[in-house]
Amino acid sequence: MKQILVTGGTGYIGSHTVVELQNAGYDVIIVDDLSNSSIDVIDNIEKITGKRPDFEKFNLADAAKTDDFFNRHQDISAIIHFAASKAVGESVQIPLHYYRNNLVSLMNILDCQLKYGVSNIVFSSSCTVYGQPDKLPVTEKTPRKDAESPYGNTKRVNEDILQDTIKAYPQLKGIALRYFNPIGAHPSALIGELPLGVPQNLVPFITQTAAGLRDELKVFGDDYDTPDGSAIRDYINVVDLAKAHVIAIERLLENKNKAGYEVFNLGTGNGYSVLEIVKGFEKATGVKLNYKIVARRAGDIEKIWADTTYANEELGWKAEKGLDETLLSAWNWEKRVRGIE
Ligand code: WQD
Repeated sequence: MKQILVTGGTGYIGSHTVVELQNAGYDVIIVDDLSNSSIDVIDNIEKITGKRPDFEKFNLADAAKTDDFFNRHQDISAIIHFAASKAVGESVQIPLHYYRNNLVSLMNILDCQLKYGVSNIVFSSSCTVYGQPDKLPVTEKTPRKDAESPYGNTKRVNEDILQDTIKAYPQLKGIALRYFNPIGAHPSALIGELPLGVPQNLVPFITQTAAGLRDELKVFGDDYDTPDGSAIRDYINVVDLAKAHVIAIERLLENKNKAGYEVFNLGTGNGYSVLEIVKGFEKATGVKLNYKIVARRAGDIEKIWADTTYANEELGWKAEKGLDETLLSAWNWEKRVRGIE
């Protein structure tokens, strides 16, 4: 069966994608430097699927190690590239680390694809490239805007690197998937989002507050131009997101792509406010959340949600899991990790 390289495959979205690739019959090899994830994820993937992905630990910003890897693995049919530093706030403090790690990794991979003849790549991008859109919902034709953070800018620049390299070398073909806000966990509660330190993202902060690890959730602003004043995002179940990656890989492997470089938004098409997520969590889990409204967080946009028509029609993919099920899955994961009944 075809071998798929998943970089960052012990991470949150990466690990869920490895599970769905294995469920679809693909052999998977993971490369991860474990800087933001645990090797235990490999055991848990095996518990879910019964198949243990191969694994090598190194950082893809190291050109020599990346070349050596591809030289030893000349049976790779396609790559899904997740590996990147991804903390928005941290990227403002250490931009050089973000540009070096995120851009050099992709360029090393592309160099090896050309040298070793690996045509297909799916790239993990983000709706952050749209900034605050002038018009909602966002389609793939919505103009990208200057990113609010070095992290967001690495996503935008990497899209350009990918597009320009494919234009120059037509033997390559690639798909950039622009995620909206991935949340939730696998129904087994064996894999999920496990941020190191204080969670930056909303849902892990909610579940850690519910688990008693955090005193209260701070809601960053209720003075936005939205129905309840809190900011709106398009929250998508991570398993739905993972399934879209399998479809994107098959599109490339079966040469169904209509251009060398394609872009798809991966969202649900529904926008929910922070306060709606808080209420939704309480309703889905029965756990009362302690929260306080505070000032807006610098760099946040007001509202964004996806127009999912293109992905629905072109990929034949649609997000299926609802908000209740998704928030409950996040809570079940948190309870298992913390040993809470
Ligand atoms: C969502 C909403 C916050 C925490 C970023 C990146 C994106 C992707 C996901 C990596 C906002 C509010 C949050 C909290 C809060 N990253 N919030 N209290 O900023 O939309 O997107 O993370 O792949 O690329 O841009 O996600 O979860 O941080 O915030 O009120 O403790 O929740 O203000 O409105 P964001 P988020």
